[in-house]
Amino acid sequence: MFETIEWTAAGTVRLLDQTRLPAEEVYVECRDIAAVAHAIRSMQIRGAPAIGVAGAMGVALAAQSIRAASFEEFYAELSRHGEALRRTRPTAVNLGWAIDRMQRYAEQHNALPSHELVDALIQEAQRIREEDIRDNRAIGAYGRELIPDGASVLTHCNAGALATAGYGTALGVIRAAHAAGTRLSVLAGETRPFLQGARLTAWELQQDNIPVTLITDNMAGHLMQRGKIDLVIVGADRIARNGDVANKIGTYTLAVLAQAHALPFYVAAPLSTLDLSLHDGEAIPIEERDPEEVTAWAGVRTAPVGVRARNPVFDMTPHRYITALITNRGVVRPPFDSGLTALTDPDFLNKV
Ligand code: MRU
Repeated sequence: MFETIEWTAAGTVRLLDQTRLPAEEVYVECRDIAAVAHAIRSMQIRGAPAIGVAGAMGVALAAQSIRAASFEEFYAELSRHGEALRRTRPTAVNLGWAIDRMQRYAEQHNALPSHELVDALIQEAQRIREEDIRDNRAIGAYGRELIPDGASVLTHCNAGALATAGYGTALGVIRAAHAAGTRLSVLAGETRPFLQGARLTAWELQQDNIPVTLITDNMAGHLMQRGKIDLVIVGADRIARNGDVANKIGTYTLAVLAQAHALPFYVAAPLSTLDLSLHDGEAIPIEERDPEEVTAWAGVRTAPVGVRARNPVFDMTPHRYITALITNRGVVRPPFDSGLTALTDPDFLNKV
């Protein structure tokens, strides 16, 4: 089994380069926060929880390199690095959440000698990684009950081990159901334009011998109409208080289609994906990437030179299309506001 991201004994961050999959399994070693920022921006590492862990480890790398005469000087430098890292990708709240948690941890341990503070920050980043894997297993345990025997499950993008520190959210539910003996098959939407479904989800499920069939994104409606899909399960990049969900572009389309065909539409995510500062999803920033991701693939043009293209890479699914949110603290059904509030105890609120 591959490792999506880990802190090495040499004090570096090692991550699986997801831009090279499925052709090659190549690892990248980041020695400083700039290398982590590049890895996130270029999508060598992607997926909301995975970029959260990368953010935390990036801050730990920065902490290692700072030479400061006082804690105040150290903290100012750490924050400056953190802000630059936060700007690499705007939609997934996990990135900012993890950077904030690292900065808060530094503040809380300001009395430590500098080398001990750096060690403590490295340990905190590793804890964020371990907690993510633990949370995903909990999501899997809660969610697997929702998958009936013999189900054909549609998923979108990659919300698997590759998108997290390990095990996955949407794919974690699928993994847990499969491990519990539920017979299931997965339809992976290819996820234009970056092909996370085709390149990553298909690869990841193949590694685990979970039956997977690839479809292009525009086949979903037809297959629902023909009764070939029983439920949809996706991950999330940010969830507002009322349950509105930002996730990979195309998620909204699938949610509307699922409702039109009376199919359950589940969103699996850890509570670190919840943005309690937003009442609804309207204000979630939607990242727009280079239009070239739409007009070309792997350096080969697929559209005429000079044509304009749009590339919003996430969309927002209003909560009314969502059957349930599968979190690490349990399954939440509408009304989501009260359900999510009940799950977020003061201990969790202190960390967001
Ligand atoms: O642009 P990406 O590949 O980072 O987008 C990833 C997604 O939209 C995932 O569905 C989401 O981050 C959840 S991953 C557990």
